Amino acid sequence: MTDKTPALRLENIVKTFPGVRALDGVSFEVLPGEVHALMGENGAGKSTLMKVLGGIHQPNEGRILVGEEPVVMANPLDAKAKGIVFIHQELSLAEELTVAENIYLGELPRKSFGRVDWKTLHARTDEILAQLKVGFDARTVVGTLSIANQQMVEIARALTVDAKAVIFDEPTASLTDAEKVVLFEVIEDLKRQGVGIIYISHRMEEIFRITDRISVLRDGQYRGTLVTAETDEDEVTQLMIGRSLDLSRNESHAELGDVAVEVRGLSCGDLYRDVSFEIRRGEVVGFYGLVGAGRTEIAETLFGLREPSFGQILLDGEEVRLHSPADAIARGISLVPEDRKGQGLVLGMNCRDNMTLPQVDDLKAGPFVAEGAEVAIFDQYRDRLDIRTPGWRQLVGNLSGGNQQKIVIGKWLSMHPTLLIVDEPTRGIDVGSKSEIHKLVRDLAAQGYAVMVISSEMPEVLHVSDRIVAMYHGELIRSFTSDEVTEDNLIQAISGIRPDEKAA
Ligand SMILES: Nc1ncnc2c1ncn2[C@@H]1O[C@H](COP(=O)(O)OP(=O)(O)OP(=O)(O)O)[C@@H](O)[C@H]1O
Ligand SMILES: [Mg+2]
Repeated sequence: MTDKTPALRLENIVKTFPGVRALDGVSFEVLPGEVHALMGENGAGKSTLMKVLGGIHQPNEGRILVGEEPVVMANPLDAKAKGIVFIHQELSLAEELTVAENIYLGELPRKSFGRVDWKTLHARTDEILAQLKVGFDARTVVGTLSIANQQMVEIARALTVDAKAVIFDEPTASLTDAEKVVLFEVIEDLKRQGVGIIYISHRMEEIFRITDRISVLRDGQYRGTLVTAETDEDEVTQLMIGRSLDLSRNESHAELGDVAVEVRGLSCGDLYRDVSFEIRRGEVVGFYGLVGAGRTEIAETLFGLREPSFGQILLDGEEVRLHSPADAIARGISLVPEDRKGQGLVLGMNCRDNMTLPQVDDLKAGPFVAEGAEVAIFDQYRDRLDIRTPGWRQLVGNLSGGNQQKIVIGKWLSMHPTLLIVDEPTRGIDVGSKSEIHKLVRDLAAQGYAVMVISSEMPEVLHVSDRIVAMYHGELIRSFTSDEVTEDNLIQAISGIRPDEKAA
């Protein structure tokens, strides 16, 4: 492999933002037909490096070579013209436009007199969509698609170009397993065509499944490159965060208190049916299942975002009706949502104000908000969650993806809820911070909080939960204690197999 000229090379790239040296002399290369992982903690500089490559940021120092030739990426269209295609961590689609318009934005096929050639546009788009085996077509309006499908539109856009290198920045964060399989096939195809692929992800199992080499950044500096087949998770983790991690199961059992929340025979249209469970103070209950099993919808019901069609919700033994999130918050329920971008953050607002947003009324001293109290809350959670930012004045939109998520988590933790619901709490979070968040969840339970954790990652559920509830197609199939659960019986349960059926 080493005798090939790299498809692409970055040399000694420096990029600074006010108060931040995001990249401190980083070199990186990708060979034709290679899948090269870029790893590092949240805020290490991965997305920034790729934005330099994609013409979104200009570097302060350093140079970029495509093949042997030094180039300047003046802007994203220029980078695209030079064969660099970028699939972003944050979706960058125009929601009111159709799939076809988004894919060919700025490059719509035209007839004479400059009129858009809709027929060609739609035909070309449908051809690409067919490769991706998606369930929508060229004329679908992007805003009506799920986040996962919007991600597929981004990928489709990449396939329209004669690419030298394709950058995937956390592409699987919101994909289902089936969609992931399609994505990995697309990557295989590109690889066969000799395209260099840069793959950013925090998910070790993916990295080890599809990449050839792994380069690691730490605090804006290049730390080294490993050959995937010759290394292991522990070595990569060491290089990323400077220590190993304990990834064992949850063995600690906090003293359980009274039942904080009980759900009896709850149903909500077709979304879920006849669901009953309880969560005690001091208990972490993990909800495991496939995407679409109904877990998020149950959480949304408990947070007052959906009205149940049948059944009861009891808080501290008393039946409640929750008509809005305000009702839920007033009753001590917090939800860290799955879609943090849409529901969790105001990107144009600073870090402190985002974190204290639901509490501004409580923090008021006379007509004014007590600024000192707000800053104190921010400081406390910045330290606990290790949020990397030069200060509370930084706009949330300028934080790295993972650090944005930590702001949302801090926001809901600082409300001291009775019931804390977290939906996919560590999506996009690096391995080190992930284990910190798991510890934090355990600590919260030890302090007497009831915690509901929804996760699609089995190691996460096994790691944090006292009890695990398995759901399948809107039904609660089985509830396990952490002593009786095994990976096998958990997989069976989320595939809809009940223990009695197995025996039969
Ligand atoms: N436009 C910007 N203005 C100010 N600071 C920025 C900007 N973009 C990035 N940064 C800072 O640069 C550093 C690197 O951020 P970057 O987004 O590259 O991290 P990352 O490695 O992609 O992390 P993650 O895994 O969380 O996505 C962070 O400290 C971030 O806050
Ligand atoms: Mg990033």
